[in-house]
Amino acid sequence: MPPLDFSAISGYRSRGDGRRWTGNLCQLGVDAIVEPGTRIFHPENVRIGANCFIGHDVIIDGYHRGQVNIGEGSWIGPLSYLHGAAGLEIGRAVGLGPRVTILTSQHVLTERERPVLHGALDFRPVTVEDGADIGAAATILPGVTIGQGAVVGAGAVVTRSVSPFEIVAGCPARPLGQR
Ligand SMILES: CC(C)(COP(=O)(O)OP(=O)(O)OC[C@H]1O[C@@H](n2cnc3c(N)ncnc32)[C@H](O)[C@@H]1OP(=O)(O)O)[C@@H](O)C(=O)NCCC(=O)NCCS
Repeated sequence: MPPLDFSAISGYRSRGDGRRWTGNLCQLGVDAIVEPGTRIFHPENVRIGANCFIGHDVIIDGYHRGQVNIGEGSWIGPLSYLHGAAGLEIGRAVGLGPRVTILTSQHVLTERERPVLHGALDFRPVTVEDGADIGAAATILPGVTIGQGAVVGAGAVVTRSVSPFEIVAGCPARPLGQR
């Protein structure tokens, strides 16, 4: 696989008030922007790399275990929901469109005597590798890896891992081709 060229990474411009996040994040890189309305739970387990952009009203749902790591220069669209309970790794220069949802746990479905909501949780980490791009309103389910430079179409529901440079779309997401 050819190495990705990250030389174009530079700071984004805030479209809000540009305030620097002052919460107790595990790490906040230089020139990272966290727009107003963003909520970050368990910030002690959340790392945001240098030159990242976190759009308005994003929810980073960290957890008492598991880390959310967002790599340098990544762009997280407004209203996205990132769940960190099992661990979420987002690489460098990754793009997430508006309203992307990434989940890292789900209730087991085998305990019929209980409401699903009360069943045990099955935790599975998600990885989005360097340079990948996830279209608006796509949902990434627990345990999925989105390969380097891969593309997920708008509105997709991704149930299986996506190979590097593959393009997928639809519900469930199916391969459309390669970049
Ligand atoms: C998935 C995507 C990258 C494909 O682009 P493309 O390679 O140029 O694909 P095409 O437009 O040629 O479409 C190829 C086929 O896939 C279908 N398709 C394209 N995007 C789709 C999507 N999001 N969901 C379902 N099907 C899709 C097309 O209808 C077409 O089907 P057909 O061959 O039966 O007519 C693009 O459509 C997309 O969804 N981009 C995300 C845009 C976005 O959310 N941007 C956010 C920016 S922050």
